[in-house]
Amino acid sequence: MRLANKLAAVTAAASGMGRAGVELFLKEGAKVAAIDVNADALAQLKSDMKKLGYELTTIQADLSKTEQMKSSINDAAAALGGIDILWAHAGTPGPAGVENLDLTAYEFAMTLNVTSATLAAGEVIKHMRKRGGGSVIFTSSVSGIVGSMMSPIYSAAKFAVVGLTKSLAQAFAPDQVRVNVICPGLADTPMKLGFTGRSGVAAEAAANEAKLLAAVPMGRLCKAEDVAHAALWLGSDDASFITGVALPVDGGFTAR
Ligand SMILES: NC(=O)c1ccc[n+]([C@@H]2O[C@H](COP(=O)([O-])OP(=O)(O)OC[C@H]3O[C@@H](n4cnc5c(N)ncnc54)[C@H](O)[C@@H]3O)[C@@H](O)[C@H]2O)c1
Repeated sequence: MRLANKLAAVTAAASGMGRAGVELFLKEGAKVAAIDVNADALAQLKSDMKKLGYELTTIQADLSKTEQMKSSINDAAAALGGIDILWAHAGTPGPAGVENLDLTAYEFAMTLNVTSATLAAGEVIKHMRKRGGGSVIFTSSVSGIVGSMMSPIYSAAKFAVVGLTKSLAQAFAPDQVRVNVICPGLADTPMKLGFTGRSGVAAEAAANEAKLLAAVPMGRLCKAEDVAHAALWLGSDDASFITGVALPVDGGFTAR
C-alpha cells in the first residue's frame, strides 16, 4: 500500500476528482479527512466508504470563507493526529469573459481557486513541520498552463496557483515539504458544464465540449480517477524528490 500510515486531508472532496482521491487514498492505506461545503454529499461519501470498510473523517466547511478554510485544516489535523498529505483541490470555473464583468463572481473565483489554496498551505505547513515533512498538492488546470478563450478569469486564477506552487516548493523545501500541482484537462465531472455550458443552452455546451475534445490528442476527456492517481503518486514517497512540478493530466492537450 502506497500510503500506509499517511495522514491525508482532501478539500472539495465530496464529488468528482476529490471524491475519487479520497477513495484511492483510503484503499492505499491512508487515514483521510474529507473537507467539503456540501454536508449531504459528505454524509453520502462517509457511508459509501463505510460500506467499503473504511472509516472516513468528514469536515463541512465553506472554503471561500477565510476562517472556515483555516479551521478545516486544523480540524483535519486534530482528527487525524497530524497531516502528511494535503490535496487542496477546491476551485470553480468563474465568469466567462471580461466585458461587463460581474466583480462579485470574479472575486469568488479568485477566492476559491487562489486564496483557499494559499490559506490552506499557510495553515498546513506547521502540521507538516511537526511530522518532519509532507506533500502539498494543489489543483490547477490545463488553463493554468495555456490560456483559455472560454475561461480567461479561471485561467488567470489557475496560472496563479501554478506560481504559488513553484514559489512554495522553494520556500517549503528546507522543511522537506514538497509542493506540486495537478493540471487536469476538461474532466467528466459535475463541474464540466461550468466550463462548457455557461449559456445554459445544451447544444452550445455540446459544441464547446466537442471543440475541447478535438484538441485532446488521446481523444477522450479526463476521468476523475486519472487525476486521483496523479495525486496518489505526488502524495506518496514514490515522489519523494519531486517538488515544484505542474503535472498535466490531459491526454496531450498542452503538449503543443
Ligand atoms: N472538471 C473539470 O473539467 C476540471 C478541469 C480542470 C481542473 N478542475 C479543477 O478541479 C477541481 C474540482 O473539480 P471537480 O471536477 O472534481 O469538481 P466537482 O464539481 O465534481 O466537485 C467540486 C466539489 O467542490 C465542492 N465545493 C464547491 N464549493 C465549495 C466551497 N466553497 N467550499 C468547499 N467545497 C466546495 C462541491 O461541493 C463539490 O463536492 C477544481 O479546482 C477545478 O478548478 C476541474
